[in-house]
This record gives sequence, C-alpha cells and structure tokens, in this order.
Amino acid sequence: MKLGRTLMKSLGPAVLLGAGTLLVEQVTGVPPLSPHGTAMAQTTAQAPAPSGFTFDLSRYSEERLEAIYPEADPFLGEALGEDEIEAASRLIATLAEKVIADFAPGEARRDAHPKAHGCVTATMQFDTDLPAELTGGVIQPGAEHEALVRFSNGSPDPTAPDIAGDTRGMAVKLFGVPGDKLYTDLGGPDTQDFIMISSPVFFINSAKNYARFFEAVNGGKISQMAAIPLYLGVRGSLHAVKMLRQKIANPLETRYWSVVPSQLGTGETRQAIKFSARPLGPTDSRIPRDPAHDFLRQAMAQSLSEAPYPMEFLIQRRADTGLSVEDSVPEWPESRAPFQRVGTLTIHQQDFNTPERDAYCENQSFNPWHSLPEHRPLGMISRTRRVVYEAIAELRHQMNGTSYPTGLPAAESGTQ
Ligand code: HEM
Repeated sequence: MKLGRTLMKSLGPAVLLGAGTLLVEQVTGVPPLSPHGTAMAQTTAQAPAPSGFTFDLSRYSEERLEAIYPEADPFLGEALGEDEIEAASRLIATLAEKVIADFAPGEARRDAHPKAHGCVTATMQFDTDLPAELTGGVIQPGAEHEALVRFSNGSPDPTAPDIAGDTRGMAVKLFGVPGDKLYTDLGGPDTQDFIMISSPVFFINSAKNYARFFEAVNGGKISQMAAIPLYLGVRGSLHAVKMLRQKIANPLETRYWSVVPSQLGTGETRQAIKFSARPLGPTDSRIPRDPAHDFLRQAMAQSLSEAPYPMEFLIQRRADTGLSVEDSVPEWPESRAPFQRVGTLTIHQQDFNTPERDAYCENQSFNPWHSLPEHRPLGMISRTRRVVYEAIAELRHQMNGTSYPTGLPAAESGTQ
C-alpha cells in the first residue's frame, strides 16, 4: 500500500486511470468501457442468465468453503489471511457470472486460458541419480510416467489472435500416480498435475485483489480502474504489463514456471519448492512476418510432425533463503535459490491437431490440487485456486453437459 501511495503521489490520478485501463485492456483484449464490459456486469450467476442457465453458488458460500478450504502450514511459512475465504467465495461468484455471461450453454470455456494451442502426449522420465533432497512424491530416481500437456494463451478471450501479447500456459498431467490426492481428478484418480505459465512471477498476491481486479475488469467503472495500480503496487503493475505483453514464436520453445510454490516431501523433511520446464531442443523459431490468427498451433503442429520435443523439468529449493511462500509477486532469484534438473518431459512426435483431440482437451481439467500430499500447493494464491478451479471446471462442465475424460486421449495417428 505504501508503494501504491507513492505511485499515486508521483503519477497522479489521470496517469493511474490510464495505467488501470491499460491493464484491463491487456487482460480482456477489449477496452473496459465497451458494451462487452458493461454487459458482463449485469448478469448474475444465481439469477437465470439470458440463456436460462443457472448455477448453484450456495455450494461456494463462505460457510461451505470453510469445510474444504486448505489449512495453512506455518512450518513452511504459510499464514491464512483474515478475509481470505470470504474473498475466495466472492471471486468464484465474479468469475462464474462472467463465464455465464460470456458463453452460451454447450459452448462454455475455461475462464482463464480458454484458448488451447493443443493437447499433446508426452513421457516424463525422472533422472536416475537424484540426491535425496530433490526427491519426493512422483519425483523418484528412474520413475517414468505417461503424460498429457495442454498449451494455452492466458487471455480470457478465446478468440484473440496469437500475436496479441499474453502470458502462455503449460499444464501437465502425469498418469499412473496411485495414492490419495488432495483433490481427486474427477476423470482419473491416479494423476498428478503440474501447472506453469511463461513467467517466473505473478502480479497479484491475494484472492481479495484478484477479485477486486476482475470486478474492475467486468464492471468497467472509472473509479475501480483508477484503483488498480494502487493495490497491485509498482512491482505488481510492472509485472502485469510485462506478463501481458509477452509474444512467443512457438509454445514448445518457451520456458514455463510454476510461479507459486509447492511442497516437496512430507513430514519433518518437507520443504518449499517451485518448478519449471525448459526446452532442451532448438529455440530459434521466429514470429512470422504476417502471422496467422492461430500461428502458435500451426508452429506446434509443424514441429511435432518432424520430431519429439524434450524439455528439462527443474525444481528450485527455497532451502534456508527465507524467501516468501505467501507473496507471489517477488521472484525467487536464481542467485539465491538455483533451479536443478530432476528429469525430462519428452513431448512425442505426433499429430494432435484434430477435432477429437480438441474436444478431449476442452473437457479435461487441470488443477494444482490434483496432487499427492507430497506436492501440496502453498501460499494464498494456491489456496484460492483450490476452490476456484473446482467451481469453474464444474460450471463449464454443467453448462456443456459434458464429463471429464478418463485416461490419455485415443491415438489419432501412428506417431504417439
Ligand atoms: C488467484 C489466482 C488465480 C485464479 C483465480 C486462477 C483462475 C483460473 C481458472 C478459473 C482457470 C480455469 C480452470 C478450469 O476451468 O479448468 C485457470 C486455468 C489456468 N491457470 Fe489459473 N488462476 C490463478 C492463478 C494462476 C497462477 C499463479 C498460475 C501459474 C502457474 C495459473 C495458471 C493457469 C493455467 C496454465 C491454466 C490453464 C490450465 C489448463 O490448461 O486447463 N493460474 N486459472
């Protein structure tokens, strides 16, 4: 807040409004005062939408969330915020309203990262010579798992062209992982998800600010927009602009980070880590001079028709650095907490670009809490995601009348 006040003094309200508007435009792809923005604010999730669809939000009331909301682990530096659960409940209502207003039943998409470049099959192979401090859960010397990877754009607008600046997503689901999960994947209990984006940092560090930010995005009120840089702070605002302007040439040639921490191991030796996937192959693709609307899908399809794409899987141990697990805005600098490789995720040579694979991909659900206790997500943003992802995945499946796919997708070509 101190940073926010400094920002207000030095920049003035007009500049703040400009900055807020820019952030809103970057996130939604539309100017905040457009009919799109105001229309979103008029719909409620509990009242029937123009389509007649209703969603029972009482399942996500503050009281009900208290029963399933994760507890904080002080041993690893977690601390539950005062109004955290209430903010998570409000956020679910805001995002649910937006999904219901934006999509007709039968066509509902994810609220974040709705545009997929493709879902691809892969194999995760952990190294054989791992030291004990790099192991836990699925990360075991020599262990191998079949995997599914969904690459996406971050923007809530699924129709945005790939050339628009954006943060990109990489969601990994490992199969063949037995054991109780913190939240069971409704399609397959024996899975472990690892979710990453193309940035090592986030721009928001609480459910309350995420809710305020998206209420401003949906509501389009000038006062709400001018306030955005105040609660994001200087660092959060700069991260937001940087993240949302990112352009890439090929999702397979991009590095991804977990951004927020998770646990490795259980009991007294449990520790806080972050993870990352880094391409091992060539990274020399260039953005075409006249890029097609979906050129990232085309680049991936072309690359995977020619060769498999290996990526290193890395973990960053917090160890005794004292870095925060609750604040997801500052980076964990590699100079203090270096990344160390633990295995290779090889994306198979394949033809994934089919309507069947895309339908499978739409119905899938990735959730950081589809997880063994040994990989428990940490920090306020992670705790919020526990309930938000469940609610939004449930909403889009109800709107579409679809179920969660079980297992890996059927082979559409002989190259899997
Ligand atoms: C409070 C903070 C956050 C909220 C409220 C949020 C919300 C969401 C929602 C609602 C979805 C769609 C879920 C579904 O329908 O299946 C989603 C997907 C996604 N989120 Fe987040 N998110 C947050 C933070 C993050 C962070 C820190 C990351 C960084 C790794 C991230 C990466 C992703 C990715 C990559 C997807 C797409 C997963 C897929 O391919 O299905 N999110 N997010």
